[in-house]
Amino acid sequence: MTTDSFATLARYYDRIMAHVDYDRWYLAALALGDMLPSTFRHADLACGTGTLVKRLHRARWNTLGLDLSPAMIRMGQKDDLPWRGVVGDLRALPFRRALNLITCLFDSINFLLDEADMEMAIQQCADALRPGGLFYFDFVTEEMVLRHFADQHWTENNGTFSSSWESTYDRATGITETAIRVNNGVANTIRERIHSRTSIERALANAGMRPLAFLDAGTWKRPGRKTIRVDVIAVRGDPAPYTNSFRKIQTGIQALLQS
Ligand SMILES: C[S@@+](CC[C@H](N)C(=O)[O-])C[C@H]1O[C@@H](n2cnc3c(N)ncnc32)[C@H](O)[C@@H]1O
Repeated sequence: MTTDSFATLARYYDRIMAHVDYDRWYLAALALGDMLPSTFRHADLACGTGTLVKRLHRARWNTLGLDLSPAMIRMGQKDDLPWRGVVGDLRALPFRRALNLITCLFDSINFLLDEADMEMAIQQCADALRPGGLFYFDFVTEEMVLRHFADQHWTENNGTFSSSWESTYDRATGITETAIRVNNGVANTIRERIHSRTSIERALANAGMRPLAFLDAGTWKRPGRKTIRVDVIAVRGDPAPYTNSFRKIQTGIQALLQS
């Protein structure tokens, strides 16, 4: 049985994440969509409360969201905005050769706690894509955990409530555990695993996907030692037809990130 690790956090999630730059993901997704046939189909996997899907739905995309957490999907449906959200697991997707673009953002891949699960999810994404389909996802690096999470304890003021965070990191397993407590409520523990770039590249290759780019998410330039989040754009099949258009997109997003 899967327990919903976002069960108690879901109702606070959007307010806790109010500072997160969804614009960047939205604009990058729109640009990737521009490279696809006009009738393309998109899914945002591990969509959480559907923030990105709702915006893409408003942009008239044929899109849906999928997330493991029933509480996150239910919460996302409370505001009556029209979007399709379903409960589902990245490791057992209900799509076969059905999608032209998959997004899976905000370190959702790190929520897969062992390598076999990460590989299975990437294989499932490849199988869900049509040939030539695009997969845009991100992952956080150990640098992110060491700099911002490991053995740290902090409190955030989220307007009408406060949240306290307590995080540990086990270097041997690559797993970070963060207990998030809203006011004096029950702590919600979130676990994430650091996957190396090498293991992600191997999983993509085994799944028949080839990377168009691995980029530092903050600059859309080549990742370096200080990179805390990596954006990956991969293609099911041959990336060559996208290379020139993608270069222009990359330049555009780089300019946006610098502004
Ligand atoms: C940090 S949240 C990101 C949510 C959303 N992408 C966003 O940008 O707000 C991670 C999400 O991954 C989901 N998740 C974790 N494991 C999953 C799995 N195996 N299949 C589908 N979703 C999963 C969680 O339920 C959670 O909503």
